[in-house]
Amino acid sequence: MLYSAIRKVFFKFDPETIHELTIKSLKSTGGTPLNFPYKQTVVEKPKQVMGIHFPNPCGLAAGLDKNGECIRAFDDMGFGFVEVGTVTPRPQPGNDKPRIFRLPEADAVINRMGFNNKGVDYLVNQVRKAKFKGILGINIGKNKDTPDENAKDDYIYCMRKVYNFASYITVNISSPNTPGLRSLQYGEALNELLSALKEEQTALAKQYDKYVPIAVKIAPDLTEPEILSIAECLIENDIDGVIATNTTLSREGVEELEHGNEQGGLSGQPVKDKSTQVIKFLAQALDNKLPIIGVGGIASGQDAQEKVAAGAALVQIYTGFIYQGPELIKDIVRAL
Ligand SMILES: Cc1cc2nc3c(=O)[nH]c(=O)nc-3n(C[C@H](O)[C@H](O)[C@H](O)COP(=O)(O)O)c2cc1C
Repeated sequence: MLYSAIRKVFFKFDPETIHELTIKSLKSTGGTPLNFPYKQTVVEKPKQVMGIHFPNPCGLAAGLDKNGECIRAFDDMGFGFVEVGTVTPRPQPGNDKPRIFRLPEADAVINRMGFNNKGVDYLVNQVRKAKFKGILGINIGKNKDTPDENAKDDYIYCMRKVYNFASYITVNISSPNTPGLRSLQYGEALNELLSALKEEQTALAKQYDKYVPIAVKIAPDLTEPEILSIAECLIENDIDGVIATNTTLSREGVEELEHGNEQGGLSGQPVKDKSTQVIKFLAQALDNKLPIIGVGGIASGQDAQEKVAAGAALVQIYTGFIYQGPELIKDIVRAL
């Protein structure tokens, strides 16, 4: 199917309106015979990571299906795994619109959504209904109005709710659009959060008689000493994986473009090398003690290969997928 033709129409409209329409249509067609416009077969390239068997190494990154409404549709497209969320304990509207901007000259997006989502109970209900047999990551965060000193409680609350439904759980401490969130990446705040989550994971593993790995998602805007200190903390707390990276606050290369100075996180091509550098340094610091899922600016099989060469075991896509559609999944899996 010619996604380039569909994209031409899509890109004439406001990004969030198109996003909502697409979610609605994928929600109602995924897993049904009406999925034929996007259903495709992707070759098996199995990979064992975090103790999980992935049918192929290309996943959907968090933020596209925040409420877990289209899991079956993304599975139909051939993703090796689907990550839903970020979800918070209570529903919240997110920031004022407009809050998502295309920068087509740079194959990029700037967003300041601010964790708009229908809350963890709604998401769990969607996951139940999907009866999905594939690999599902559930990405968790904190409500905007939860004070920073209580952030841990929100993560624990979500973890308890999603534990029995996730293949792995992602702890998102790197969105630039929730004030204070990124401060959880540093020092004692990180150690306290991770040790509490590890303790909870141990208890839940007993309760459900099943071990669900935890992955921590980090920002691309970190110095090498900061990455080193995060790596030490992940190892010390026996965390199962790390997702690198989220969107960037940098505007290098896009300042002159329309929307280039909008507030929020920049994704797509301009974040590609920054993410790869973080992965490279992180891989050295981790010394194979835990696996890295590489994400940021992947728009071709070669970009995915670069992430793997830097040290990623799996990859995820978001912005490249918006620009290129499901065909990109095939290109990536073929290349890896
Ligand atoms: C509109 C939009 C919303 C996003 N929402 C989330 C989110 O809720 N949680 C999260 O962990 N990452 C979120 N991300 C970040 C992506 O998952 C990914 O880490 C980042 O965009 C870099 O990958 P990319 O260049 O392939 O898009 C979002 C990205 C975009 C563009």
